[in-house]
Amino acid sequence: MKHGIIFALLLVLLPLAAQAQDEGVKLQAANVDVSNTASLQRGAKFFVNYCMGCHSAQYVRYNRVGQDLGLSDPQLESYLMFAGGKPTDTMVSAMPQADAIKWFGTAPPDLSLESRIRGPDWIYTYLKSFYLDPHSATGVDNVVFPHVAMPDVLWELQGTQEAVFNTVKNPDGSSYQVFDHFEQLTPGKMTPAEFDKADRDITNFLAYMGDPVAVTSLSLGLRVIGFLVVFFIFAYLLKREIWKKIH
Ligand code: HEC
Repeated sequence: MKHGIIFALLLVLLPLAAQAQDEGVKLQAANVDVSNTASLQRGAKFFVNYCMGCHSAQYVRYNRVGQDLGLSDPQLESYLMFAGGKPTDTMVSAMPQADAIKWFGTAPPDLSLESRIRGPDWIYTYLKSFYLDPHSATGVDNVVFPHVAMPDVLWELQGTQEAVFNTVKNPDGSSYQVFDHFEQLTPGKMTPAEFDKADRDITNFLAYMGDPVAVTSLSLGLRVIGFLVVFFIFAYLLKREIWKKIH
C-alpha cells in the first residue's frame, strides 16, 4: 500500500522534475490533435523513416496503429513496414542497444510513452531546437536538452540554424548565457511553416502512442453523447404523451 502511494507520487512528480530542468527556454505549443487521422498517418510515416533507425516503440503494435489510423494490412505494409515483418510485430528498432551505446554513449530511449514523460510541447520544441555547435561530438546541441547525444536527424528538412545567446551579468560580476533566438544558416527542403507542420505531425503521433485508447475513447464518447441526446428526445416525447392523458 505504502509503495503504491510512493509510486503514485513519483508518477505525478516525475514530469514536474523533467520540466523543471528546462527552466529558461520557453516551450512552444504543440497543439496536438489525436483525432486528426491524416496528421497521425503523416506522423507515423515520419516516425518510421526518421526515428526508428534508433528508437523503438516497443509497446505499440503495427496492426493496432493500422486499425486506429484507418490503414489496411497491405497499406500498412507498404506505408510503414517496408523493412518487412508481420503486422502483429511491435515497433522495435533494428539498432542493437550495445551498438547505440557505443556510438552515442547512451541508448536512445523507447518512445512509446515519451509524450507522457515530457509532454507534447516539450517534444515539439525539442525537435526544432537543434543548432550547430562545433564543440559537440554530433556537431549540434539543443537548447531544450543541453549536451544531448542525439544528432539533428531532421536537419535536411529544417535546414541548419545557429543559436544566439545573451550574456546576463550577476551582481557579483560573474555571468551566464541565456538563449535568445535562432538564426537560420542554410535552408532545408521544407519552409519553416512546412517543417512546423511535420514536427507537429510527429509529436501528434507520439501523443497518440502515449495514449492510443484516447482515439477510440473519443469516438466512443461522442457516440454515447449522441445516444443520450436521442434518448432524451424520446423520453421527453413519451413524457408529454403520458401526461396528456392524465390531465
Ligand atoms: C541516430 C540515432 C537517433 C535518431 C535517428 C533519433 N534519435 Fe532521438 N535520441 C537519440 C539518442 C542517442 C537520445 C538520447 C539523448 C541523451 O540522453 O543525451 C535520443 C533522445 C531523444 C529524445 C529525448 C528522450 C528523453 O526524454 O530523454 C526524444 C524525445 C527523441 N530522441 C525523439 C526522437 C524523434 C521524434 C526522432 C525522429 C524524428 C528521433 N529521436 C530520432 C538518438 C536518435
